[in-house]
Amino acid sequence: MTTQLLSEKRIMALADDAATAPSMHNAQPWHFRYHRHDRIFDLRADLDRALPYADPDTRALHIGCGAALLNLRVAVSHSGWYPATRLLPDPTDPALLATVQLTGLGSSESDLDELYPAVHRRHTSRYPFDETDIPEAVRSALLDAARREGCVLDFPTGWHLQWVLKLAAEAEARNLTDRVRVEELLRWTRTAATATDAVGSGVPEHAFGPRKRGGRAPMRDFAGARPVPGRGAAAFESSPHLAVLSTAGDRPADWLRAGQAMERVLLRATLEGMVSSPATQAVEWRDLRWPLRDPVAGTGYVQMVLRMGYGPPGPATPRRPVADVLDIEP
Ligand SMILES: Cc1cc2nc3c(=O)[nH]c(=O)nc-3n(C[C@H](O)[C@H](O)[C@H](O)COP(=O)(O)O)c2cc1C
Repeated sequence: MTTQLLSEKRIMALADDAATAPSMHNAQPWHFRYHRHDRIFDLRADLDRALPYADPDTRALHIGCGAALLNLRVAVSHSGWYPATRLLPDPTDPALLATVQLTGLGSSESDLDELYPAVHRRHTSRYPFDETDIPEAVRSALLDAARREGCVLDFPTGWHLQWVLKLAAEAEARNLTDRVRVEELLRWTRTAATATDAVGSGVPEHAFGPRKRGGRAPMRDFAGARPVPGRGAAAFESSPHLAVLSTAGDRPADWLRAGQAMERVLLRATLEGMVSSPATQAVEWRDLRWPLRDPVAGTGYVQMVLRMGYGPPGPATPRRPVADVLDIEP
């Protein structure tokens, strides 16, 4: 085994790649610690960035951290190492979500490596998408991406799609009138009036997208009831493409797998010229989450709903400085 040590610049670049991951309300609930001697990254949950009302079980927190973990594996692979990954390696320390050891220089995973160009290019797009079909070959590449991380992706059609859209609309209506959730959302959104609040996290006004004037796409309105000067309105898709990501179980390890699968799907979609926005409103209400699943296929627990298609790319959103999310140990 080689004893090659990574430079500080290289370690910071790997953490920076990992932190481009999507997270609910852009809370970025992760922290990395790199152990130089063993070449191991610890990925820890930053529970100060949890969302107690929208995500009381920290399921979404684990999904965001799983996405950051997938990015880290991609970045490590891209730099020529094999990312030996363990989920929840210490049962006495549940906030230690994963470790990634850089081993076997020269034996990277090529199927991960090829996703690297999408890591900094993927952004959530809250614009209307074209009413274009997703070609069969692209759909099956996306299903395969989820399968490689041990999860199931499904594109509901017919009555199941209508049902998922209905549940999302019900959840969005509840969210807009649920005082504590509205307050939580406001804490994590940045309009011109709150621009000086916190640097580097939350959803900024420029990423809200237009207000929905029509169409059936399940959009979360980050502005809530606040007027946002200069924000336009637009008609969204009348037949949106939704992808539903499910896991066999519903425990922290399943959530981390779901996060990795989601990010693998999103990176693959980005390479295919697609755009996406998660639409998890219904997953966040216990009574609406269970009926989201397809009772015929019966594919376990729904973890994510993704709106996918072709259209304008989303803008980049802020990230915390790498120095705030990374410690380097000797
Ligand atoms: C678990 C989870 C749930 C999310 N739910 C939604 C959602 O319902 N609506 C939405 O527009 N974005 C949603 N997002 C996307 C985040 O808001 C987005 O990732 C974050 O603001 C950072 O922006 P970026 O994806 O462009 O990097 C979700 C992301 C995650 C990981």
